Amino acid sequence: MKYEKSDPVRLTEDETAVEIIDQTLLPNMLKTVRLHNAEEIYSAIKNLQVRGAPCIGICAAYGVFVCAQRISAQDRGEFFAELKIAADCISSARPTAVNLPWAVNRMYSCAERNKALPREKLLEKLKDEAAAIHEEDIETCQIMSEFGLTLMQDGDSVLTHCNAGALATSRYGTGLGTLLLGAERGYKFHAYVDETRPLLQGARLTSYELSNAGIETTLICDNMASYVMSKGLVNAVFVGCDRVAANGDTANKIGTSGLAVLAKHYGVPFYVFCPFSTIDTDCKTGADIEIEMRDGDEIKKMYFEKPIAPESVECLNPAFDVTPAELITAIVTERGIFYPPFDFEEDQ
Ligand code: MRU
Repeated sequence: MKYEKSDPVRLTEDETAVEIIDQTLLPNMLKTVRLHNAEEIYSAIKNLQVRGAPCIGICAAYGVFVCAQRISAQDRGEFFAELKIAADCISSARPTAVNLPWAVNRMYSCAERNKALPREKLLEKLKDEAAAIHEEDIETCQIMSEFGLTLMQDGDSVLTHCNAGALATSRYGTGLGTLLLGAERGYKFHAYVDETRPLLQGARLTSYELSNAGIETTLICDNMASYVMSKGLVNAVFVGCDRVAANGDTANKIGTSGLAVLAKHYGVPFYVFCPFSTIDTDCKTGADIEIEMRDGDEIKKMYFEKPIAPESVECLNPAFDVTPAELITAIVTERGIFYPPFDFEEDQ
């Protein structure tokens, strides 16, 4: 597989580490970091140095391979016990995006399937599986972006939330893939980008990616979406997602559900983009999706020179919310565009 410099995650050439772009430093600094063990991978995912549902899945997949290589135990039972500890550690870094346990489980199952092979061959299989997860994501994003283009006209304008671009995936992205692919083909799209408090992934990452790709980009504060929609400035809302329940309820970055409510009010179509593997039919409805709660200091301090609230004030900081299925116009995957009532079981 040919890696590009801009890939947010990859295996190092000597195959001893996962290399990520540290997304907490963007857009002011483009710096890569190497992760060598389960603890480093856990902490990079937890601290959002690598983030975005598909991207953390890819990072975790390479991570399981890197950890497997470091296990010195010759005994197969001991090898698998250590591998399980590493896999569980990586998988527990964040709870909401299904892509994380999905990728780790796929890697662990690959190890179990090949447990009779000699160590070197088993490691080879794990490396290939991680690369397959990565390559499939690139392909998946490209196919869903092609579907996305069928929903748009040249010159259209979309509102997007958080970052669902190449930095959140492998290349192209989910929610932003249509814009990035369209730009390559000469379409003139316009994007309104929510800054996406508290961690500002929209301001820091999406406006950076889209303007680098030559797409007309207008940054807005999260509380300006109603104004933008009421003025007829956007033709659609495009977002990614972290987990879709069997009934179509969808978890994505906090604030997404509010946008969906507004979009319904103003008659703006609301599209969710994700790989089919993000649909978790074990969750019957959105109420079954665990929402990550994060430290209130992210609201009070992060990305500000000085704290913007009294030290003692309490904060509520859910990282995601659930958009009810009835507010979603369609869910776009590599297997096609799904319209309500959502029935993903049929397509499993
Ligand atoms: O907390 P983050 O930055 O990992 O949240 C990311 C999002 O909510 C994205 O919209 C989602 O993962 C879709 S990524 C293509």
